[in-house]
Amino acid sequence: MCGIVGYIGGKKAIDFLLDGLTKLEYRGYDSAGVAVNCGENIFVEKAVGRLDSLKEKLKNNLPVGTIGIGHTRWATHGRPSDLNAHPHSDCHKNFFVVHNGIIENYLQLKEQLIAKGHKFISETDTEVVAHLLEENYHGDFVLAVRDVLAKIEGSYSLLFMSKFDPDTLIAAKQDNPLIIGIGKDGENFIASDIPAIIPFTRQTYILNDGDIAIVKKDSISFVNRQGLPIDKKIFHVKWNAQAAEKGGYEHFMLKEINEQPKAVRDTISPHLNGKVTFNELNWNADFLNDINKIYIVACGTAYHAGLVGKFYIEKLVRKLVEVDLASEFRYRNPIVDNKTLVIVVSQSGETSDTLAALKESKRLGAKTLAVTNVVGSSIAREAEFVIHTAAGPEIAVASTKAYTTQLISMFMLALYMAQILKSVPAEEIERLIKLLKKIPAQISETLSDVEPIKTFAQMYGFNDDVFYIGRSLDYCVALEGALKLKEISYIHAEAYASGELKHGTLALIVEGVPVIALATQKSVYEKTLSNIKEVKARDAIVIGIAAAGNTSLEKYLDHVIFVPETDELLIPLLAVVPLQLLAYYAAITRGCDVDKPRNLAKSVTVE
Ligand code: G6P
Repeated sequence: MCGIVGYIGGKKAIDFLLDGLTKLEYRGYDSAGVAVNCGENIFVEKAVGRLDSLKEKLKNNLPVGTIGIGHTRWATHGRPSDLNAHPHSDCHKNFFVVHNGIIENYLQLKEQLIAKGHKFISETDTEVVAHLLEENYHGDFVLAVRDVLAKIEGSYSLLFMSKFDPDTLIAAKQDNPLIIGIGKDGENFIASDIPAIIPFTRQTYILNDGDIAIVKKDSISFVNRQGLPIDKKIFHVKWNAQAAEKGGYEHFMLKEINEQPKAVRDTISPHLNGKVTFNELNWNADFLNDINKIYIVACGTAYHAGLVGKFYIEKLVRKLVEVDLASEFRYRNPIVDNKTLVIVVSQSGETSDTLAALKESKRLGAKTLAVTNVVGSSIAREAEFVIHTAAGPEIAVASTKAYTTQLISMFMLALYMAQILKSVPAEEIERLIKLLKKIPAQISETLSDVEPIKTFAQMYGFNDDVFYIGRSLDYCVALEGALKLKEISYIHAEAYASGELKHGTLALIVEGVPVIALATQKSVYEKTLSNIKEVKARDAIVIGIAAAGNTSLEKYLDHVIFVPETDELLIPLLAVVPLQLLAYYAAITRGCDVDKPRNLAKSVTVE
């Protein structure tokens, strides 16, 4: 995890560093720091806690130098503290480094460096990099960095600054993201992610694994780890600057929930042309017939989207789909070969476990497809085939619009496969496409009735436990609803397949416990209804989520939230919206920091 920024140019570096770190705070926020070369000395300031603590410390003491690096941390090695905050430096404070990732062999390197007389002040893995640079520097900054990279193992994006080379920053990447923003007036920018640089430039270079960037104020060049020059293409960023800001909403999460109609529409529109098209896949029946098993592998919310994807593909394509947590997948020797399609789903395209699962699948010979929101991300570059969701930047840690765009992408993927294999009659595909087109407007409709949800959040926001129940696709959505509630409001929330209630969970249902019952799936409606009666009989407070028109349900429930009617395959895209809002308003009721929940970060780029 962690966010990195760097500036080199003619202006005060600190302005970009603090602005960039603010945009990247979603990547980690347990401490932050900057180092700015001010000629005679290198100015360093660090502070444990949110970025505001660093800003407070800097308030009356802003450095004037024009080259600097900064970091916002999510701790992996060493607890959050001023000392463990980045940038880290060598014994003589000549070299400074910021790092996102994990140096796996740091203990061994640290021992060797201590034996040579180096003094360490932090508990981090990163500090070894600074001391290694000191050890390997003999007047050639690039060569010294290459020597350091040859010695370290693990994942990293790294940014180096040297007192002896005041006109150069050096960046290196392995497994964690790093981009260079090409400035116009003798300045250049470095950052972990695009929102930090779009106020300044849209022209970027995206580093690949193994790339080393040598950034000066009016030049950027690249070499590989052997020192050979690399030619890189400029990547033009199309996102607008506003998209990365809160746009008038109190929190990014609320903004992103409300952006879902547009995000889903933008994700659908490039792929509908009478039928579903995926030019980027260009699959045919021979290719699909050769696949005998599909895995969907992901983490967190993307995993929940994968559970829904399984229903889509199994129902419409009639191929076996297994859904796996990326952190489990590669450690259980999965049965994968060249007849397996592995679909990885990742908003960021940078989640370490998902990337590793993808690499392992490729190694085992699988065909690989990534469903990701970030063009040029590590996962997008690693997979054989890529489908991009068009959610735009998702900043809030709790994922919302990425989930709905992942769902719609997988629905279209299943329809696309069904068209090729003719596994569903053409009229049925036509019917589903018609319904699919209505979804953005139906999400808007769902979003227009917020008041009752706010009221429930206020009524039940202080309960210790909340249960979510549902069957079939409702169960998948229940899992996502419970995750939303626990991650941002810290309420203990559990989702259960309704049929499993009497195998244990029913023991926890006592008078007054809120139960959110999803009852949108017509095919299992009667069964769900019996489960609702079971919890109601134990005096739970039951809030139902149902399709419009199902008024018969009202008499069994304390409250009902209706979502517009559509096919039961598509209704998860609507049913999840009130659950996202419920979690949001419960967190507000409890005074939680919605966009930055404790202990969590947006992009989990460490194992
Ligand atoms: C973190 C985020 C979640 C996200 C998960 C997977 O846990 O907080 O919102 O679903 O990572 O991230 P990815 O970028 O791979 O979808």
